[in-house]
Amino acid sequence: MSQKTPRNFFKPLAIGAPDPMRELPVRLERMIHFVPPHLEKVRAKVPQMADQADVVLANLEDAIPADAKDAARDGAIEMGKMVGWQAKGTGFWSRVNPLNSPWFQEDVSRLVLEAGEQLDVIMLPKVEGPWDIHFADQYVAQLEAKAGLKRPILFHAILETAQGMALVEEIALASPRMQGISLGPADLAADRKMKTTRVGGGHPYYRVVDDPNEDGSKRESAQQDPWHYTIARMVDACRMAGINAFYGPFGDIADSEACEQQFRNAFLLGCSGTWSLHPSQIEIAKRVFSPAPDEVKFARRILEAMPDGTGVAMLDGKMQDDATWKQAKVISDLADLVSEKDPELAKAYAAS
Ligand code: GLV
Ligand code: MG
Repeated sequence: MSQKTPRNFFKPLAIGAPDPMRELPVRLERMIHFVPPHLEKVRAKVPQMADQADVVLANLEDAIPADAKDAARDGAIEMGKMVGWQAKGTGFWSRVNPLNSPWFQEDVSRLVLEAGEQLDVIMLPKVEGPWDIHFADQYVAQLEAKAGLKRPILFHAILETAQGMALVEEIALASPRMQGISLGPADLAADRKMKTTRVGGGHPYYRVVDDPNEDGSKRESAQQDPWHYTIARMVDACRMAGINAFYGPFGDIADSEACEQQFRNAFLLGCSGTWSLHPSQIEIAKRVFSPAPDEVKFARRILEAMPDGTGVAMLDGKMQDDATWKQAKVISDLADLVSEKDPELAKAYAAS
């Protein structure tokens, strides 16, 4: 037998470490806002960001130059002290360097020992298989015990290698610490040898062409989404494990229309949120990952029409049954969660 027994799966991995969570906390995580913590000017805006974003993340990995890794780590710990994250209810996360890098050990140990009370989630990049999660799991348990933490820190893996993709289900199930998985389209494209220099989104060469026209006129063609398979598979792996799926970075900051469409496709397929790399993307993510008021209105009509969730009802000519009741519940529950944090949307949903 190569798996832990059910009872052992939920035991702490170190004496004195907190008990693993059996259920994930229900939190609104429409966007994970990336902050380069070594830049003092950007760091100064962290309290403002904590008001705007659902999750603020101190990024220690890619995009942080090698000679700024120590400063970024110091900055991340400083960020932990700048806001009362737990009281405020805004998520405080950090993306650490990969397990094989010279920075991983210090990133994780300092974060847990010096910012562990505030830190919700450690984002682990370039996860190749469940063994990466197991190693980090054991290491963090040791540190939690040393720090005397009462609440376990969760893990979020980035899906950005072909092997990680092939083992995504095992990664999702590797530990009760797993909170979710994000797509990493840049690293994944490189590892797969996809021929694109873009970070997420479509590509003008990736398309389907209509059949030839009899009169020989120009054939219509349309771009396709090269990320569809990856996102759909990631969502299945995550939801099977009872954790959350997230889109990831959209690199063309100026192209807000394409960004919005990519986010929306991910939302419709089941993702809970995305990354924001620029304040403008926080607004896009808020718009996309909160259900539309007319959808909420229809969902609530379904729930009202079938109070015990069984049977059949017709609404505007559309058949409703136990399954559509569950679909409606997903949207209505999300609207309730959004309403707790967002008074404007709360009003729009109440009016709907
Ligand atoms: C994110 O880390 C990516 O590689 O796309
Ligand atoms: Mg990456």
